Amino acid sequence: MHKSNFFSDISSSWDDQHAGREEIERLRLFAGHFRLQAGERVLDVGCGSGRLIPLICEKIGPNGSLVELDFAPGMLDIGRGKPNGGNVTFMLGDVHAMPLPSKNFDKVIALALLPHLDDRASALKEFHRVLKPGGLLVMVHQMGREALDRLHGQSSEPVRRDLLPKKSVLESLLAEAGFSGVKILDEPDQYVAWGKA
Ligand SMILES: C[S@@+](CC[C@H](N)C(=O)[O-])C[C@H]1O[C@@H](n2cnc3c(N)ncnc32)[C@H](O)[C@@H]1O
Repeated sequence: MHKSNFFSDISSSWDDQHAGREEIERLRLFAGHFRLQAGERVLDVGCGSGRLIPLICEKIGPNGSLVELDFAPGMLDIGRGKPNGGNVTFMLGDVHAMPLPSKNFDKVIALALLPHLDDRASALKEFHRVLKPGGLLVMVHQMGREALDRLHGQSSEPVRRDLLPKKSVLESLLAEAGFSGVKILDEPDQYVAWGKA
Protein backbone atom coordinates (compact mmCIF):
# COMPACT_ATOMS: atom_id res chain seq x y z
CA MET A 1 0.00 0.00 0.00
CA HIS A 2 1.30 3.48 -0.84
CA LYS A 3 1.90 5.60 2.24
CA SER A 4 -0.48 8.33 1.03
CA ASN A 5 -3.32 5.77 1.02
CA PHE A 6 -2.23 4.51 4.43
CA PHE A 7 -2.39 8.02 5.91
CA SER A 8 -5.67 8.82 4.16
CA ASP A 9 -7.14 5.62 5.58
CA ILE A 10 -6.22 6.53 9.15
CA SER A 11 -7.16 10.22 8.78
CA SER A 12 -10.65 9.91 10.29
CA SER A 13 -9.24 8.63 13.59
CA TRP A 14 -6.08 10.81 13.63
CA ASP A 15 -7.50 13.65 15.71
CA ASP A 16 -9.14 11.26 18.19
CA GLN A 17 -5.72 9.76 18.80
CA HIS A 18 -3.54 12.85 18.52
CA ALA A 19 -5.56 16.00 19.06
CA GLY A 20 -6.85 15.53 22.59
CA ARG A 21 -6.67 18.43 25.01
CA GLU A 22 -3.46 17.27 26.69
CA GLU A 23 -1.68 16.64 23.43
CA ILE A 24 -2.67 20.04 22.02
CA GLU A 25 -1.41 21.72 25.21
CA ARG A 26 1.89 19.88 24.77
CA LEU A 27 1.99 20.93 21.13
CA ARG A 28 1.44 24.51 22.23
CA LEU A 29 4.68 24.29 24.22
CA PHE A 30 6.43 22.68 21.24
CA ALA A 31 5.26 25.53 19.03
CA GLY A 32 7.87 27.69 20.81
CA HIS A 33 10.47 25.75 18.78
CA PHE A 34 9.02 27.26 15.59
CA ARG A 35 10.11 30.80 16.61
CA LEU A 36 7.13 32.21 14.69
CA GLN A 37 6.56 35.92 14.29
CA ALA A 38 3.61 38.04 13.19
CA GLY A 39 3.27 38.39 9.45
CA GLU A 40 5.36 35.36 8.52
CA ARG A 41 4.67 33.10 5.57
CA VAL A 42 4.76 29.48 6.79
CA LEU A 43 4.69 26.07 5.10
CA ASP A 44 3.52 23.09 7.22
CA VAL A 45 4.82 20.00 5.40
CA GLY A 46 3.14 16.65 6.06
CA CYS A 47 0.48 18.72 7.81
CA GLY A 48 -1.87 15.79 8.35
CA SER A 49 -5.23 16.83 9.78
CA GLY A 50 -4.00 20.36 10.48
CA ARG A 51 -3.32 20.01 14.21
CA LEU A 52 -0.94 22.96 13.97
CA ILE A 53 -3.32 25.36 12.21
CA PRO A 54 -4.58 27.21 15.34
CA LEU A 55 -1.14 27.27 16.95
CA ILE A 56 0.58 28.67 13.86
CA CYS A 57 -2.21 31.14 13.02
CA GLU A 58 -2.22 32.50 16.56
CA LYS A 59 1.47 33.43 16.17
CA ILE A 60 1.55 34.73 12.58
CA GLY A 61 -1.66 36.73 12.96
CA PRO A 62 -3.92 38.07 10.19
CA ASN A 63 -1.02 39.43 8.13
CA GLY A 64 0.77 36.08 7.99
CA SER A 65 -0.11 33.17 5.76
CA LEU A 66 0.04 29.41 6.06
CA VAL A 67 0.22 26.65 3.44
CA GLU A 68 -0.83 23.21 4.66
CA LEU A 69 0.70 20.55 2.39
CA ASP A 70 0.21 16.78 2.50
CA PHE A 71 0.02 13.91 0.01
CA ALA A 72 -2.92 12.20 1.78
CA PRO A 73 -6.22 13.69 0.53
CA GLY A 74 -8.12 12.33 3.55
CA MET A 75 -5.87 14.22 5.95
CA LEU A 76 -6.27 17.49 4.00
CA ASP A 77 -10.07 17.10 3.98
CA ILE A 78 -10.08 17.05 7.78
CA GLY A 79 -7.87 20.13 7.94
CA ARG A 80 -10.12 21.98 5.50
CA GLY A 81 -13.07 21.40 7.84
CA LYS A 82 -11.35 23.23 10.71
CA PRO A 83 -11.88 26.93 11.39
CA ASN A 84 -9.10 29.24 10.29
CA GLY A 85 -8.67 32.97 9.81
CA GLY A 86 -8.92 32.81 6.01
CA ASN A 87 -5.17 33.00 5.48
CA VAL A 88 -4.67 29.20 5.19
CA THR A 89 -4.25 27.39 1.86
CA PHE A 90 -4.45 23.61 1.50
CA MET A 91 -2.27 21.87 -1.04
CA LEU A 92 -2.11 18.26 -2.16
CA GLY A 93 1.52 17.45 -2.91
CA ASP A 94 4.53 15.30 -2.24
CA VAL A 95 7.32 17.00 -0.29
CA HIS A 96 9.92 15.46 -2.61
CA ALA A 97 8.72 17.70 -5.48
CA MET A 98 6.49 20.48 -4.20
CA PRO A 99 4.34 22.56 -6.56
CA LEU A 100 5.64 25.75 -4.96
CA PRO A 101 7.92 28.57 -6.10
CA SER A 102 11.45 28.95 -4.72
CA LYS A 103 12.42 31.38 -1.92
CA ASN A 104 8.83 31.75 -0.83
CA PHE A 105 8.59 31.00 2.94
CA ASP A 106 9.99 32.36 6.20
CA LYS A 107 9.49 29.02 7.96
CA VAL A 108 9.07 25.39 6.90
CA ILE A 109 7.67 23.30 9.74
CA ALA A 110 7.56 19.49 9.77
CA LEU A 111 5.79 17.82 12.69
CA ALA A 112 6.27 14.04 12.81
CA LEU A 113 7.18 13.82 9.12
CA LEU A 114 10.89 13.02 8.89
CA PRO A 115 10.76 9.24 9.57
CA HIS A 116 8.21 8.79 6.79
CA LEU A 117 10.27 10.33 3.97
CA ASP A 118 11.36 7.94 1.22
CA ASP A 119 14.27 10.15 0.16
CA ARG A 120 15.39 12.45 2.96
CA ALA A 121 18.13 14.11 0.94
CA SER A 122 15.83 15.26 -1.86
CA ALA A 123 13.06 16.35 0.55
CA LEU A 124 15.52 18.46 2.57
CA LYS A 125 16.73 20.09 -0.66
CA GLU A 126 13.10 20.91 -1.50
CA PHE A 127 12.61 22.50 1.95
CA HIS A 128 15.77 24.56 1.36
CA ARG A 129 14.59 25.58 -2.13
CA VAL A 130 11.24 27.00 -0.97
CA LEU A 131 12.69 28.87 2.02
CA LYS A 132 13.70 32.50 1.62
CA PRO A 133 17.42 33.07 2.26
CA GLY A 134 17.75 33.09 6.06
CA GLY A 135 14.42 31.27 6.46
CA LEU A 136 14.20 28.49 9.03
CA LEU A 137 13.41 24.77 8.75
CA VAL A 138 12.10 23.24 12.00
CA MET A 139 11.44 19.49 12.25
CA VAL A 140 9.88 18.30 15.49
CA HIS A 141 8.89 15.00 17.09
CA GLN A 142 7.36 14.64 20.50
CA MET A 143 9.64 11.83 21.58
CA GLY A 144 13.29 10.95 21.20
CA ARG A 145 14.73 8.77 18.43
CA GLU A 146 14.88 5.52 20.39
CA ALA A 147 11.27 5.73 21.59
CA LEU A 148 9.89 6.79 18.21
CA ASP A 149 11.80 4.07 16.35
CA ARG A 150 10.43 1.51 18.82
CA LEU A 151 6.89 2.80 18.29
CA HIS A 152 7.16 2.64 14.50
CA GLY A 153 8.72 -0.83 14.74
CA GLN A 154 5.53 -2.00 16.42
CA SER A 155 3.29 -0.29 13.84
CA SER A 156 1.76 -1.82 10.77
CA GLU A 157 3.02 -1.68 7.20
CA PRO A 158 3.92 0.58 5.46
CA VAL A 159 5.40 2.65 8.31
CA ARG A 160 7.05 -0.01 10.48
CA ARG A 161 10.48 0.63 8.97
CA ASP A 162 10.16 4.44 9.15
CA LEU A 163 12.98 5.47 11.44
CA LEU A 164 14.58 8.72 12.56
CA PRO A 165 18.18 9.32 11.49
CA LYS A 166 20.96 9.54 14.06
CA LYS A 167 21.99 13.11 14.84
CA SER A 168 25.25 12.80 12.91
CA VAL A 169 23.44 11.50 9.79
CA LEU A 170 20.86 14.29 9.87
CA GLU A 171 23.59 16.90 10.43
CA SER A 172 25.31 15.77 7.22
CA LEU A 173 22.06 15.64 5.24
CA LEU A 174 21.09 19.15 6.32
CA ALA A 175 24.54 20.51 5.46
CA GLU A 176 24.43 18.79 2.02
CA ALA A 177 21.01 20.35 1.40
CA GLY A 178 22.55 23.78 2.02
CA PHE A 179 21.40 24.49 5.60
CA SER A 180 23.63 26.33 8.06
CA GLY A 181 23.42 26.95 11.81
CA VAL A 182 22.14 23.39 12.23
CA LYS A 183 21.08 22.37 15.74
CA ILE A 184 19.61 18.99 16.67
CA LEU A 185 18.21 17.85 20.02
CA ASP A 186 17.62 14.16 20.65
CA GLU A 187 16.22 13.84 24.18
CA PRO A 188 13.84 11.29 25.72
CA ASP A 189 10.81 13.50 25.12
CA GLN A 190 11.76 15.31 21.92
CA TYR A 191 13.74 15.15 18.72
CA VAL A 192 14.03 18.60 17.16
CA ALA A 193 16.15 19.89 14.27
CA TRP A 194 16.68 23.47 13.08
CA GLY A 195 18.49 24.63 9.96
CA LYS A 196 18.81 28.03 8.31
CA ALA A 197 18.51 28.41 4.52
C1 LIG B 1 2.73 11.05 11.31
S1 LIG B 1 1.72 12.03 10.26
C2 LIG B 1 1.89 13.63 11.01
C3 LIG B 1 0.78 14.57 10.59
C4 LIG B 1 0.82 15.94 11.24
N1 LIG B 1 2.06 16.64 10.97
C5 LIG B 1 0.60 15.80 12.72
O1 LIG B 1 1.59 15.71 13.47
O2 LIG B 1 -0.55 15.71 13.14
C6 LIG B 1 2.73 12.20 8.82
C7 LIG B 1 2.04 12.98 7.73
O3 LIG B 1 2.98 13.22 6.68
C8 LIG B 1 2.34 12.97 5.45
N2 LIG B 1 3.40 12.59 4.50
C9 LIG B 1 4.26 11.54 4.60
N3 LIG B 1 5.09 11.53 3.55
C10 LIG B 1 4.76 12.59 2.77
C11 LIG B 1 5.26 13.10 1.55
N4 LIG B 1 6.26 12.49 0.92
N5 LIG B 1 4.69 14.20 1.03
C12 LIG B 1 3.65 14.81 1.68
N6 LIG B 1 3.12 14.37 2.83
C13 LIG B 1 3.68 13.27 3.38
C14 LIG B 1 1.34 11.88 5.72
O4 LIG B 1 0.30 11.84 4.77
C15 LIG B 1 0.85 12.26 7.10
O5 LIG B 1 -0.26 13.11 7.05
